[in-house]
Amino acid sequence: MDDIQKKISFDDLHIPGLPDTAAQIVAALQDSFCSVQKLEELICRDPALTAEVLKIVNAPLYASGKSVKTVAETIMFIGLGNLVSLVSIAALTNECMKSTIDKDIIRHLLAVSSAATQLAEQADAVKVRREVAVVAGLLHDVGKVVLYTSLPEEYARIRDEVGRSGRPFAGVEQEMLGFNHCTAGVLLARRWHFPIVYQHALEHHHDEPISEDTLSEADALCYVIRAADKMVLDAGIGAGTSTERDLPKLLKVLDIGQPAYERISKNIASMKNLSV
Ligand SMILES: [Fe+2]
Ligand SMILES: [Fe+2]
Repeated sequence: MDDIQKKISFDDLHIPGLPDTAAQIVAALQDSFCSVQKLEELICRDPALTAEVLKIVNAPLYASGKSVKTVAETIMFIGLGNLVSLVSIAALTNECMKSTIDKDIIRHLLAVSSAATQLAEQADAVKVRREVAVVAGLLHDVGKVVLYTSLPEEYARIRDEVGRSGRPFAGVEQEMLGFNHCTAGVLLARRWHFPIVYQHALEHHHDEPISEDTLSEADALCYVIRAADKMVLDAGIGAGTSTERDLPKLLKVLDIGQPAYERISKNIASMKNLSV
């Protein structure tokens, strides 16, 4: 482990630029007359990206029996304010699917998106919009993708150590690299100008303190992601064990009852065999 730490510095991370289609959507949205049809055309020019957008946006609906069938429906479902983030993560996961990346990472992102969406719907005391939970779940561990693409050998050693020991992923990353996927993820989110609520969730979803003060949307979203991540890792979807030690307090501040948490857990367990 010491050998890795000597060689790696934070500057070794390759943070890619905003994917082309996402950049085109940013430009199109500058025009106040931009239509859903125009945005749909931009996305549909790339059939592989279109398929990936539809795949990831449908993951949260997996257990509900509902589905989103077209890009236009996707835009309505997710909202214009979240479209760039959704298309960006779709472009990134689409690239990953062509690589040798451990596909369990992608399955984990899809399952956390689903769990976060269902938990947000139960969190009556706080306001976490469903579409924001969808995207935050898809994004939350994007730092692992950055690590995989920047440092493939080191990433493989981290994954092997996590697989061998069952320890939390972030802890092994910290020990081997001196930083973890939260830090790598927020670098990407800043470069891609993602909304602050997403940056906050990416950076803090493995933090320990839980505030019982009035929650901002960013705090509430981060807590929803923390609970969703634990639920998904406990279901065996993703590498390593959860770092979350205070689920009861998280559920209390979110005002989510244990029966609801357990019901959603059962839905999520069915995603273990989801093809990605
Ligand atoms: Fe994480
Ligand atoms: Fe995670």
